[in-house]
Amino acid sequence: MLIAVTSGKGGVGKTHFSVNMSLLLSKRFETVLVDADTGLGNVDLVLGKKFEVNLIDVFVSDLPLKKLLPQYEDLWVVPAPSGVVELADLSNREKRVLETFLNGLDSEFDVVVLDTAAGIHSAVRFFLEKADKIVLVVVPDPASLNDAMGLIMSSSASEFYLVVNRCLSHKEAKMVHNLLIDWVKYTDKVVHFLGWLPEDPKLREAVFSRKPVVEYAPDSRFSSLLSNIVSKLVNLKGDGDERGVEKLSDVLYKG
Ligand SMILES: Nc1ncnc2c1ncn2[C@@H]1O[C@H](COP(=O)(O)OP(=O)(O)OP(=O)(O)O)[C@@H](O)[C@H]1O
Ligand SMILES: [Mg+2]
Repeated sequence: MLIAVTSGKGGVGKTHFSVNMSLLLSKRFETVLVDADTGLGNVDLVLGKKFEVNLIDVFVSDLPLKKLLPQYEDLWVVPAPSGVVELADLSNREKRVLETFLNGLDSEFDVVVLDTAAGIHSAVRFFLEKADKIVLVVVPDPASLNDAMGLIMSSSASEFYLVVNRCLSHKEAKMVHNLLIDWVKYTDKVVHFLGWLPEDPKLREAVFSRKPVVEYAPDSRFSSLLSNIVSKLVNLKGDGDERGVEKLSDVLYKG
C-alpha cells in the first residue's frame, strides 16, 4: 500500500504529518517512510536523527531492503537522495529505476509513505501516479486551497483524502472540505474528508527537542487527532467510501 502525502503549496505540514503518521502506523504494520522531497528533504530533521545511507548501494543490492535501510525504532526510512539523483525533472530512465525501487518497497512492506515535495512538477506527479492513496494536506488559507486545487486538476489521479492542518475546529475543517467539494463538483475528481489537525506549539517544541511530536508529546491535541486520522485510515471509516478504504484495510491486514 503506497500512501503519498502531498499539498500543492509548500510549508503546510506534510513532513510533520508524514513522519508522525508513519510512526503511529509502524506500531502495527511494517512501515517505510520515503523522503520523496528531492529538493529539500527534511524527514531527518523532524525525526531528530541523521541517516547515513548510500542510496546507490540500496538501489543495486540484492539484499532485502529491510536489511539495507536505516530504522528509527520500528519505522524504516528512505532518506532524501539529495546529491545522488536529481529528481526535480525525472528522465525516463530515472523513472524506471525509481519505479522498480518503489515496487520493491511495496512488496516488502505493508505500508509505504511518500512525503512529497510541494508543487506539481514531474517528480511529484510521478509519485502521485504510483500511489494507491493520496493524502492532500492543506491549511485554511486561500493560497493553500488554490494550490491544492491546481494539484488536484493537474494530477491524473481522481481520488484525494483531505487533511486540514493548523485548523481551529472540526467545523472549520468541514468548511474547507465543502469548499473543495464545490470546486470539483463538475469534474471527475473526488475529495474525501480524512481529518483535521490543530495549530499546536508542541510541534515546534518537539523539533527543538529533536523528537517527533507523537513521542515528545503523545497526549498533545495534535497527537491525539493524528491518531484519529490513522485509525480512520486503517478502520474502514470513510465518507461513503467503504469500497476504497476497505481495499486499504485489506492490504494493511494482508499478513
Ligand atoms: N499543526 C501545526 N501546528 C504548529 N506548527 C505547525 C503545524 N504544522 C506544521 N507546522 C510548522 O510548519 C512548518 C512547516 O512544516 P512542514 O515542514 O511539515 O511542512 P511541509 O509541507 O513539509 O513543507 P515543505 O513544502 O517545505 O516540504 C514547520 O515549522 C512546522 O513546525
Ligand atoms: Mg516537507
